Amino acid sequence: MNTLVVYYSHTGNNAYLARKLATDLQADIEPIRPRLNVFGFLLISSWLGISFGVRKLKHVVGNYDLIVLTGPIWTGQLISPLRCFLKQNKKSIRQLFFITNCGGSDAIRDDKFGYNKVFAKVHALLGARVKGCAELPIPLIVPEEHPEQGVTVMKTRLSDINFKSPMTERYQQILSDIGVRSMTSV
Ligand SMILES: Cc1cc2nc3c(=O)[nH]c(=O)nc-3n(C[C@H](O)[C@H](O)[C@H](O)COP(=O)(O)O)c2cc1C
Repeated sequence: MNTLVVYYSHTGNNAYLARKLATDLQADIEPIRPRLNVFGFLLISSWLGISFGVRKLKHVVGNYDLIVLTGPIWTGQLISPLRCFLKQNKKSIRQLFFITNCGGSDAIRDDKFGYNKVFAKVHALLGARVKGCAELPIPLIVPEEHPEQGVTVMKTRLSDINFKSPMTERYQQILSDIGVRSMTSV
């Protein structure tokens, strides 16, 4: 399947994930570049549902069978770079798989800062073209009993050292849901 991995990442976690996915899916990869790439503005605009848009990708979205989109969650929102990308490319995306590396654990998945609310927004935008939504929450590798768990979650940067079980199992499940059998980089 001809696949393009598209990502937005502020502190590098979703960029790490995107690179890993691109390797395992043998996909092309490209970051989303907001027109106004200022964190404070992106945070507020995510919350208010406004934006100056994102730059056109170098890759042609309509040439791909599948777009795999990754990015973080901020304050329970489908953040503006991701929302803008989806809106701008709505007509060209044939199938979408959305994956977030986020800070909220599975235990809060249905709360206002949880990932399920964001998945609902992705479904509302793309409808039946959403092949799936999946999460790789940082708390998988920073368990609750960890001292100062909340602070540690926010400070964690994914790397080949801490990308480990049980996150790797969930990652492999995501690859299998996308339809890839052979894993190369786990
Ligand atoms: C301002 C801010 C708000 C956040 N709000 C949430 C949230 O509501 N839910 C959540 O699961 N994670 C939240 N996070 C955690 C990020 O999703 C997490 O740190 C993610 O790994 C960052 O990805 P990145 O390194 O690709 O930018 C928040 C992070 C920041 C900086």
